[in-house]
Formats: sequence, C-alpha cells, structure tokens
Amino acid sequence: MKVSFHGHSVVKVEANGKTILIDPYISENGNTDLDAEKVHADVILLTHGHNDHVGDTVDIAQRCNSQIVAPFELASYLGNKGLNAHPMYIGGSHSFDFGTVKFTQAFHGSSFTEEDGTIIYTGMPTGILLTIDGKTIYHMGDTGLFSDLKMIGEQNSIDLAFVPIGDNFTMGPDDALLAAKWVKAKQVVPIHYNTFELIEQDGPGFADKVTPGKGKALEPGEAIEL
Ligand code: NI
Ligand code: MN
Repeated sequence: MKVSFHGHSVVKVEANGKTILIDPYISENGNTDLDAEKVHADVILLTHGHNDHVGDTVDIAQRCNSQIVAPFELASYLGNKGLNAHPMYIGGSHSFDFGTVKFTQAFHGSSFTEEDGTIIYTGMPTGILLTIDGKTIYHMGDTGLFSDLKMIGEQNSIDLAFVPIGDNFTMGPDDALLAAKWVKAKQVVPIHYNTFELIEQDGPGFADKVTPGKGKALEPGEAIEL
C-alpha cells in the first residue's frame, strides 16, 4: 500500500483499491501539494473538529460521496449536513470494507469554528489506529505527550506512526521523540509543523534523532510503501 504525507496533518492511504484521507486540510493549507477540488477520497478519517483538520471534508465528501469516520459529536455535526458519517469513540474499533479503525485518546481540544466565529462543540480529540492488509498506521492527531502511548505501543504492532512535532498546540520535538520511542513504531514521520510560523520546526532534524533508520521527514506529496 502507498501512504503519503500532504502537509500539516494530511495523510493519504491507498490500499485495497480505496483512497483514505486523514484530516484533509487542503484549500487553506499553504504547505500541501493537493488540490481540494480534485483530490479523491472514498473514505475520510477525522481525528478532531479543529478547522485545520476537518479542512475540506464537507466539499470533498459531497463531491466524492465519501464515507466519513469521526468522533461522535463531529460525525453528528457532519451528518446534519447530509454527509455519510460513521460515529466512533476512544477505545472503540470497527471493521469497515477498507480496513479496521480504532480511536485512541489524545490530549487536546475539539471544536469547529464557523465562518461567523460561532464555535461548535465536536467532542473529544482522538488519534487513529488504521489497520489495512496486516499493517497498522497510527495517526496521533493533535496531542501532548501522555504515558499511555507506552500501552498503545505494547498493544499494537505499529508499522508507521505520524507524530506531531510543531509545539505550542501539540507536543514539540523533544516530547515527540519520547512518543516515537514509546509507541515502538517501525517508521516515524513528523506532522503538524511548518504550516504556520508558530509551529516552525526542523522535520529532518527530528527524524535524524529518532532511533537510527526509523525516522523520516516527508515532503508534501512524498510517499512510503508499506
Ligand atoms: Ni487541533
Ligand atoms: Mn491542529
């Protein structure tokens, strides 16, 4: 399968003839190679309701008739817009035709800000464990460091982990190194950095400090074969 990074926290997984997009923040994202009006998604997985993660979900899902999978309140919010949204929550897993999704905890917030500034409550923030073709990908979403990452690493054989390193809103590089160690992933890719000035970080510098050979900073559009 092909797993590609597209700037900020946008990840695309192509497997079993399906295209799965995670946190498709595209049209407002100055650091992506994707075009929100052309990208295809059979499935959209969302970690939480913040605008830099929900991104272009509504437009893409309307155009592609995508299946959305999101935390309950966020799924309800999107379902009320007529979209096909499957609600899940932390600790729960479900097998779909494209693979198995399990939601993990994340220490962060979750709300969607409407154009007029109204803030909509969208539940708890999460991380996502996605298992397809015997491979497990862990997208941590937005989170600070927490010690149960060790438990997640012990319970799952993680092939590829996407770890936020931007600091300020999420863990920074030093905490992300601990997170990478604790989840025992075979490969680690930094996300959620360099999109805005506030979260500027050295991706390759971080990747070099992860256990030798395991870290890799991807340019937007770059892919890993799993
Ligand atoms: Ni966030
Ligand atoms: Mn974010």
